[in-house]
Amino acid sequence: MHLRTVRTVAALRAAVSAARRAGRTIALVPTMGSLHEGHLSLVRAARAESGFVVVSIFVNPTQFGPGEDFERYPRDERRDAELAAAAGADLLFAPPVAEVFPPGFATSVEVAGLTDVLCGAPDRRGRGHFTGVATVVAKLLNMCAPDVAFFGQKDYQQSVVIRRLVRDLDLPVRIEVLPTMREPDGLALSSRNTYLDAGERKQAAALNRALDAAVQALRDGAGREEVREAATGVLRAAGIEPEYAELLRADDLGAPRWEPGERLVLAVAAQVGRARLIDNKLMEVPATSGRGTGRAALVGG
Ligand code: PAJ
Repeated sequence: MHLRTVRTVAALRAAVSAARRAGRTIALVPTMGSLHEGHLSLVRAARAESGFVVVSIFVNPTQFGPGEDFERYPRDERRDAELAAAAGADLLFAPPVAEVFPPGFATSVEVAGLTDVLCGAPDRRGRGHFTGVATVVAKLLNMCAPDVAFFGQKDYQQSVVIRRLVRDLDLPVRIEVLPTMREPDGLALSSRNTYLDAGERKQAAALNRALDAAVQALRDGAGREEVREAATGVLRAAGIEPEYAELLRADDLGAPRWEPGERLVLAVAAQVGRARLIDNKLMEVPATSGRGTGRAALVGG
């Protein structure tokens, strides 16, 4: 299947304008390529509701820290184009780095507060990672000017940062965040799973099991610390030392208040072999729950 590919902002805008003149609504699915079923679920959802679906592939150098995997990040544009076309994409936008960050580029978008916790903590990827993400996503949204853009719950903190960015900068786009796609053993699909050898691949399934154990602990009335310990215990039993296992408010990544109906996110990160893996689940504090009982119901992803 052939998919039209453009590499300049001017060509992207011309194609999007033509689709708009033809009365089609525009959807954007931003990716770094190496597409898997997680990305493709976003493309299919975009296809189901939009007249014109743009998939962007751009391995954004500004969101990788020194010593991270920018150089070895998997790249296979031909395969990506076939998969994106089969999932219903109309256009691939695959710009070179200099088209997005020309010489003299000096502006960055920093979403304060939300980026200091979880992956953004100074001893982890650091808030610079999310500044890189927020800056490139703001640019991609301005380049394409879609009606709607699709993101995955898999990168939960990223989705919260992007929603805030869009709100704070009054960007005229609707943000959709869709559930995490998983392997049969529960491992969240990720382009970085290709770094795992067979033994590590088995080990990695412990992330999802750890989240499930923590969700169960919460349902059984565990408090915040016990919930974290439930997750950490499962990971350690699998030989994985977590970078973090945290329970936070889903909306603003603050400390849970155990208010009835409050949405919570349970998030874990761990290095497994050469791959840094993350995963999360969303829960809701039910109406009957009081502080400390921590009873919660799983709500998706
Ligand atoms: P990338 O890791 O390629 O992911 C692109 C989109 O696919 C993100 O919205 C991500 O959350 C979603 N995704 C990844 N794995 C998924 C899974 N298992 N199930 C459902 N969705 C999944 O995230 C990025 O790229 C970049 O940071 C980007 C937003 C493109 C900015 O550079």
